[in-house]
Amino acid sequence: MNSTLVIGSQFGDEGKGKIVDYLAEKADCVVRYQGGNNAGHTVVVNGKIFKLHLLPSGTIRKKNSFIGAGVALDPRVLKQEIASLEKEGIKVNLHIDPRCHIVLPYHNIIDIGKEEALKEKNIGTTRRGMGPCYSDRASRIGIRFDDLVAEKRFKEKLDWNFPYYVDLCKKVLGKTFDFTQEEVFQEYVSLGKEFKKYLTDVSIAVNNCLDKGKNVLFEGAQGTLLDNDFGTYPFVTSSHPTSGAATTGVGVAPQKLKTVIGIVKAYTTRVGAGPFPTELKGEEANTLRNAGNEFGTTTGRPRRVGWLDLPLLRLSNRLNGFTELTITKLDVLSGMKKLFIADSYTLEGNKVFEFPYANHLVEKVTPNYVEFEGFTLEEKNKENLREKGFSALPYTAKKYLSFIENKINVPIKMVSFGAERNDLLKK
Ligand code: GDP
Ligand code: IMO
Ligand code: MG
Repeated sequence: MNSTLVIGSQFGDEGKGKIVDYLAEKADCVVRYQGGNNAGHTVVVNGKIFKLHLLPSGTIRKKNSFIGAGVALDPRVLKQEIASLEKEGIKVNLHIDPRCHIVLPYHNIIDIGKEEALKEKNIGTTRRGMGPCYSDRASRIGIRFDDLVAEKRFKEKLDWNFPYYVDLCKKVLGKTFDFTQEEVFQEYVSLGKEFKKYLTDVSIAVNNCLDKGKNVLFEGAQGTLLDNDFGTYPFVTSSHPTSGAATTGVGVAPQKLKTVIGIVKAYTTRVGAGPFPTELKGEEANTLRNAGNEFGTTTGRPRRVGWLDLPLLRLSNRLNGFTELTITKLDVLSGMKKLFIADSYTLEGNKVFEFPYANHLVEKVTPNYVEFEGFTLEEKNKENLREKGFSALPYTAKKYLSFIENKINVPIKMVSFGAERNDLLKK
């Protein structure tokens, strides 16, 4: 393994958590490098469901967990998450980079206030304060983990930021705070003291692991089409869910990254607003949504659902350089008579194979679908799959998979057919 990246290839929620959990068995370290608790990664082990937002999914396997510099860190959420794992008897072995930017309560208020101000043009954010926290980073007024652990530095920065945001929120967004600066100061100083033991230069630590030949697993959050530059801007997140972000978000050189696994849900989902060319509506959408239990891990919102989209995956592959693909949730398509994959779009009378660069173009495309015979993956078929592996997949399922493999030109090395840890085929 040495270094492996797990990347969401679509709009997030592809099943990254499950695959990270599987790969973490052989990993020495698991590293989050972008996003924050807008992520919701689910791992199911013998019927027990773990939902992780901030901690790397490998924490469940008691691996060395790292939160790299590129993560937006909400210490309140971290405290809860550590407590809930420790309640399950899982000791958290955590390291946090001092450069991580801290999500403070006013970031959540700005996130909500901006969404409300945008009215029908809202992005549909997770309201976890991501945009405002990353904005502070870019505009160089952010408060970092290194500040949180030092009372004096934290006070100085809060003394500037807090009144600034009280004013801005009141005057521009019409929002007042139901907490005082002193309350925030006391609570966060105490969180800083509690978490000081985790402070590690993650760039040095992860580079050391890689240099010693240890297995390092990088856990991406969100999905490629939510990338701040290359996604469906402005309906995107505020970080880069692409493979390149692992280098800037941890502090490792690109040539140290070897395997890049693109996690591809067997169909497409999106939570929040923004273009979605292959989206289904009405009864068809309800059937797929219910079959896949497509309701957000973080916010519980119903996810929008649609067919698999190859122009979208071509963009994703181009940006990330996938060395292999993992297809997830294949079982969800079970029982559907016909399946469809968009191989190209028609845009202003022309056939195009690439995802357009801007929403005003994406909104004009009509997908050109290839039709496939459906397949059945019921419990008895699943038992067969667990026993015999990939070869036991129905012929029509294999055809569906090889079409994706051939069109994207990246081998499919794993196929997930259930939420449980062991419902996974390896080629
Ligand atoms: P992530 O954000 O990419 O980690 O994905 P989420 O955890 O938000 O959403 C994926 C959902 O699908 C979770 O509820 C998983 O337990 C579930 N899941 C993962 N793989 C499979 C699969 O192959 N089949 C089914 N039916 N569910 C799966
Ligand atoms: P995981 O890691 C799916 C979406 C939000 C919204 C947009 C911006 O579980 O795949 P933000 O709160 O980041 O400012 O919201 O991005 N979004 C996700 N959608 N999965 C996620 O994470 C997401 N994280 C953010 O719904 O459309
Ligand atoms: Mg998720």
